Amino acid sequence: MKELIGKANVLLEALPYIKAFYGRTVVIKYGGHAMVNDSLRSNFARDIILLRYIGIKPVVVHGGGPQIGRILDKMGKETRFVKGHRITDEETMDVVEMVLGGKVNKDIVALIQKHGGRAVGLTGKDGGLFTVEKLLIEEPQVNGPPEIIDPGRVGKVTRVDPEIIRKLDDSNFIPVVAPVGVDVDGNTYNVNADAVAGALAGALQAEKLILMTDVPGIQDEEGELISSLNQSTLGEMVSRGTIHGGMLPKVEAAADALEAGVSKVHIINGTIDHAVLLEVFTETGIGTEIVQ
Ligand SMILES: Nc1ncnc2c1ncn2[C@@H]1O[C@H](COP(=O)(O)OP(=O)(O)OP(=O)(O)O)[C@@H](O)[C@H]1O
Ligand SMILES: [Mg+2]
Repeated sequence: MKELIGKANVLLEALPYIKAFYGRTVVIKYGGHAMVNDSLRSNFARDIILLRYIGIKPVVVHGGGPQIGRILDKMGKETRFVKGHRITDEETMDVVEMVLGGKVNKDIVALIQKHGGRAVGLTGKDGGLFTVEKLLIEEPQVNGPPEIIDPGRVGKVTRVDPEIIRKLDDSNFIPVVAPVGVDVDGNTYNVNADAVAGALAGALQAEKLILMTDVPGIQDEEGELISSLNQSTLGEMVSRGTIHGGMLPKVEAAADALEAGVSKVHIINGTIDHAVLLEVFTETGIGTEIVQ
């Protein structure tokens, strides 16, 4: 009996959070680096389904860097990263679209379906969900003006039309979004998944943006996890180079989402079982919380 009452208490602990987030949207970026094994992936799917059934509206945006890398390796194609963005030529773009919009997206959709949820996969193209334009990367130089790097088919989100997400939400489908989009001329672009998640969170006026990755959160120079950060401290950490590479698009996405009215952004370790539930339903949460 004691054990049973204990179970009831666990459920009750979640009550304030269920109440606060009921009917609200939570955008979750599921990083390619967090999809490490079957048990973690299944637990992720079940966490998302649980959110949906208690009345929270999850929107999943996924990455797939390692999966793209493996196929490019097999093709003998090398890729370079600048500030966390993959330099993407036309051929690489085809691979990115096939891997992200095809394999990775459908695997996540199928996994959610398998565990009893209902999911629909989309890219930015579907229902005109988001429009992009070419991204140019500025690399600061010690002397003189920043160098402008053209990463090829890498886009940034310029417009979000959330209607298709709302329609899916209304019918209890969980949207699963691949970060591939088109510009106004119909050219296809690879977009960083963190950036897509940030833009969607803003457009949907989400309660939270959760970025799942393979590190505990944002770490300082000594590698210590920082549990809470505000915008100005983040800016300093970026200029000092403490935040670099794949963490840069996350920090930018966080800033955009907060700017657009999202209350909180969390960067969490997706390689921890049930990371999403631990973040949403506990007082302290896990990982790094970013506030205005
Ligand atoms: N200050 C920092 N704290 C923590 N991680 C950092 C920091 N600066 C850079 N990073 C790097 O950022 C990486 C996370 O971004 P990365 O793009 O590699 O993965 P992801 O976004 O989770 O997956 P994907 O890009 O496939 O969707 C970490 O593995 C770490 O190496
Ligand atoms: Mg990344």
